[in-house]
Amino acid sequence: MHLTVDKMTFDVLISRQQIEQRVRELGEQITRDYRDKNPILMIVLNGGFIFGSDLMRALDIPVEVDFIKISSYGDQLTSTGEVKMKKDYDCLVGGRHIIVVEDIVDSGLSVSFLKNKFELQQPASVAFATLLHKPDNSRLDFGLEYVGFEIGPEFVIGYGLDYKQNWRNLPAIYVRVDGRESEHGA
Ligand code: IMP
Ligand code: MG
Repeated sequence: MHLTVDKMTFDVLISRQQIEQRVRELGEQITRDYRDKNPILMIVLNGGFIFGSDLMRALDIPVEVDFIKISSYGDQLTSTGEVKMKKDYDCLVGGRHIIVVEDIVDSGLSVSFLKNKFELQQPASVAFATLLHKPDNSRLDFGLEYVGFEIGPEFVIGYGLDYKQNWRNLPAIYVRVDGRESEHGA
């Protein structure tokens, strides 16, 4: 099913069923890895809230949740290259196992910023769970522990990911199938 947004065309890239299946698998993996660790899921707003809430319910261990809000995209289709803190988390991170939950790792700027930020607080560990990763775009000097799907560089929306703050509510991941990343919407 095509979706037209600001004269751009999007198609389903990852179906709701594929997402559900993968979230279940990641949940089982994290459940095994964090059995007696009582981790904190640190959900990165806004994009991580849908994946984070599904992932949390796929865990079969005691787990806490907290939220941090950052922005690197503004209203553009490509990253601004600068990370801004919009809302800080509340919990005590020292000595705890932190799992940072992202919707997508694109340039890697956001996760690098977050890794530095959390490591300053001397947690027991910091790991990353991201639904999507664009490996062609990202330069990371560390690994991502839990990746749902690796995708190409094209712009995607849905399941938490927005275009100009809209379309996060789509139950599947849609990919832009026309035009180039550099063209901004009207
Ligand atoms: P990074 O800092 O470049 O890795 O970008 C991470 C953030 O940019 C994500 O948490 C998303 O909010 C946003 N982002 C990156 N790629 C896309 C995309 O294709 N669609 C929508 N948002 C995106
Ligand atoms: Mg965004």
